[in-house]
Amino acid sequence: MWSTLSIGLPFLVAILAGESVKATACNVTTPCPFSAPCCSEFGFCGSGHFCLGGCNPFASRSIDSCKPEPVCKDAEYVFTDNSRILSNSTFFEGNATQYDWVLDSGNIFNTNKTGGELAMTLTEKNGGTKLSSTRYVHYGTITAKLKTGRWKGVVTAFITMSDIKDEIDWEFPGAATTEGQSNLFWQGYIPTDKTNGATHTGLSDTYSNYHDFTIDWQPDSLSWSIDGKVVRTVKKSDFVEGGLTRYPNTPSRVQLSIWPAGIESSGKGTVEWAGGMIDWNDPDYKSAGQFSALVKSVSVKCANLPSLISSANATNATDITSYVYASNGTGGVPVVAYTNRSTNLNGVGRGMTMLGVEGGKWQLAVLGFTALLVAGSQVALGL
Ligand SMILES: *[C@@H]1O[C@H](CO)[C@@H](O)[C@H](O)[C@H]1NC(C)=O
Ligand SMILES: *[C@@H]1O[C@H](CO)[C@@H](O)[C@H](O)[C@H]1NC(C)=O
Ligand SMILES: *[C@@H]1O[C@H](CO)[C@@H](O)[C@H](O)[C@H]1NC(C)=O
Ligand SMILES: *[C@@H]1O[C@H](CO)[C@@H](O)[C@H](O)[C@H]1NC(C)=O
Ligand SMILES: *[C@@H]1O[C@H](CO)[C@@H](O)[C@H](O)[C@H]1NC(C)=O
Ligand SMILES: *[C@@H]1O[C@H](CO)[C@@H](O)[C@H](O)[C@H]1NC(C)=O
Ligand SMILES: *[C@@H]1O[C@H](CO)[C@@H](O)[C@H](O)[C@H]1NC(C)=O
Ligand SMILES: *[C@@H]1O[C@H](CO)[C@@H](O)[C@H](O)[C@H]1NC(C)=O
Repeated sequence: MWSTLSIGLPFLVAILAGESVKATACNVTTPCPFSAPCCSEFGFCGSGHFCLGGCNPFASRSIDSCKPEPVCKDAEYVFTDNSRILSNSTFFEGNATQYDWVLDSGNIFNTNKTGGELAMTLTEKNGGTKLSSTRYVHYGTITAKLKTGRWKGVVTAFITMSDIKDEIDWEFPGAATTEGQSNLFWQGYIPTDKTNGATHTGLSDTYSNYHDFTIDWQPDSLSWSIDGKVVRTVKKSDFVEGGLTRYPNTPSRVQLSIWPAGIESSGKGTVEWAGGMIDWNDPDYKSAGQFSALVKSVSVKCANLPSLISSANATNATDITSYVYASNGTGGVPVVAYTNRSTNLNGVGRGMTMLGVEGGKWQLAVLGFTALLVAGSQVALGL
């Protein structure tokens, strides 16, 4: 959560500097205009890469303005070198086979040690570093092997984030190098009467030692593990209230970051949470010229596609390339369709076959966006 807020400003400055950008703000009540149809992760309208990762379908011109989201693939991402990382996300064209990760902000390097490690840096100038996976996960088990920072005010994070801000976190604030925090958000929201965050203690120094941090996100329950041991489990049913299911349920990218929480522009609570203001005279910072956090690997095991998709036997499940939002759904659970549509900016647009749908009880998806067969009854989406 905090990471999104924090990197927003430098990114905004960056996009305002770009020429093809119309810096119109967007949200669900004020969606983007035809001329710049896609609402970015940061709430600004544009086209091109604005329509890729982070594009919010409900704040965009229409629900299908954003490009389809690259489907989950089982993978073990290692950082032997940084060649699978696109060094600037604004140049991404939607081909998730070409790159595994994009750099959204900041600076990275590879230590070239012990078979390669991704180093994400934080300097007084760069405002921190954030990377996003090019593929999405719609339920699955994700593990990051990482070493955190060890400085007050500096936060290391490994999270999943959907385009409508469903979020699941592992976060490592400041100087607390023997603990990690788990957290979750539904559409950017935590009920005010609830604390979704929890602290997990007793780790060997997370700056000096690699640990495996796992997010096991399944349709009905969510667990966080450290080194293969479950430390917390929540159930979807615990988050159903007032007719809404406030449980992460939309396809999400994996994000890795190091970011400055202990700075003037942060709220008091954030600074305290992160262990205080950053000391830019810290000897580590002085000698290296930066703070950094290391990632050794990230593994992704996708949840099985819903059984009905394999039963949508008009087409092979292996043809599924992408997720799209088919509708807002009900009760806080948008309808996510699995499709064979292209995820590329120059790819084919509307009217492809949907190979299956998830988010309720589904039987079969039919041609294009004009109609869906939902649990046997026809629902016109009228898009
Ligand atoms: C949505 O954006 C409009 C225009 O920028 C703004 O006036 C409005 O306050 C925003 N609404 C929300 C809920 O943020
Ligand atoms: C995507 O990238 C891969 C690997 O670079 C390439 O083989 C493939 O042709 C690309 N696909 C499209 C549609 O551009
Ligand atoms: C990506 O490129 C844009 C446009 O050239 C630039 O403004 C931005 O700072 C770059 N981002 C990164 C992370 O280097
Ligand atoms: C790691 O190796 C790459 C490729 O050889 C090189 O460009 C880079 O400078 C090296 N990084 C460090 C920290 O030595
Ligand atoms: C799958 O094929 C069987 C047998 O051909 C057929 O009865 C059934 O209706 C098909 N299911 C779907 C979802 O098309
Ligand atoms: C599904 O794929 C298999 C293997 O590629 C092929 O033999 C089969 O005919 C395909 N089925 C359909 C319905 O396309
Ligand atoms: C989606 O549905 C929720 C309630 O389930 C509602 O609060 C929200 O305004 C809807 N959003 C859009 C874009 O229609
Ligand atoms: C998607 O599947 C349909 C039906 O099998 C096929 O006609 C269409 O060409 C496919 N589209 C793409 C982009 O592969």
